[in-house]
Amino acid sequence: MDLDGKVTLVTGAAGGIGSATARRLAGLGARLVLMDTDGDRLAALAAQLPTDTVRHVGDVADESDVDAAVAAGVAAFGRVDLHHLNAGVPGPLTRLPELSVAEFDRVVGINLRGAFLGVREAFRQYERQGGGGAIVLTASIASLRGSDDLLAYQASKHGVLGVLRGAALYGGPIGVRVNAVAPGIVPTALFTESGSGPGGGDDMARRAATTPLRRPGTAEEIASVVTFLLSADAGYLTGEVISVDGGASAVSIVRPSGGAGAWDTAPVDARLHPATHRGEEIA
Ligand SMILES: NC(=O)c1ccc[n+]([C@@H]2O[C@H](COP(=O)([O-])OP(=O)(O)OC[C@H]3O[C@@H](n4cnc5c(N)ncnc54)[C@H](O)[C@@H]3O)[C@@H](O)[C@H]2O)c1
Repeated sequence: MDLDGKVTLVTGAAGGIGSATARRLAGLGARLVLMDTDGDRLAALAAQLPTDTVRHVGDVADESDVDAAVAAGVAAFGRVDLHHLNAGVPGPLTRLPELSVAEFDRVVGINLRGAFLGVREAFRQYERQGGGGAIVLTASIASLRGSDDLLAYQASKHGVLGVLRGAALYGGPIGVRVNAVAPGIVPTALFTESGSGPGGGDDMARRAATTPLRRPGTAEEIASVVTFLLSADAGYLTGEVISVDGGASAVSIVRPSGGAGAWDTAPVDARLHPATHRGEEIA
């Protein structure tokens, strides 16, 4: 890949997916601008990376913080080439009638306004430096599908695809590509605070075991797609959202198949693949 020396800004860099992207990019020789609200974990990550880094502790929903992160990259490296706009929060698992305006605004502020501010400042910097690179947004399976308990998150992540498409159309004529990854279930700290009820952090692995690939994804498996999208290997790819979800979004829930969506997948697998599984419980 052609990422050697490229200055890349990663938001939510202290988290699971952001830090995996930062590690992968560092291994490919990119120089990094790391942004997160969690300064301690940001510093711990930067200390492990075998590359030049600059850190900015700040909030992606705050206009001046976003501008300052890019400015920090320019001060350190002279330019910013690539962006992984990844910071996000899930918001509460709440019945719709109980979802407060304050929570809705907080989640949309970080996930959607944060994506807008990041994309806008990326293009402003590309104009200032006379050329751009590529942008990857972290969307979600919740950008494409719904559930009854995550309305604010879903609204914000659907909105991210609006930012993606508008930015891709703006960037196309000047050679700036804008794409998104849509992870499915990746056990990170994202759902730590959402408790042990259904759909919370504790049953992520169990839910993921019902997807076609029968397991959760890893942050590294998201990072590899992000890195590809940032690189020239994806040179003819823009305006696209790539699902990295073990096949979850390929499933029709009105015609369950392959066991997806079923808590007990063993009988389904036994029927589909009798020679391999012979009906035993799948570990
Ligand atoms: N883990 C999953 O299953 C999954 C699935 C779909 C989409 N995603 C998306 O992936 C992205 C990364 O999530 P993750 O799974 O690595 O979770 P994570 O909680 O490990 O990482 C998120 C990071 O974002 C940071 N952050 C939160 N609010 C911020 C703000 N206002 N400004 C700057 N930084 C902020 C947090 O401090 C944290 O380090 C998010 O956008 C999330 O919605 C994750």
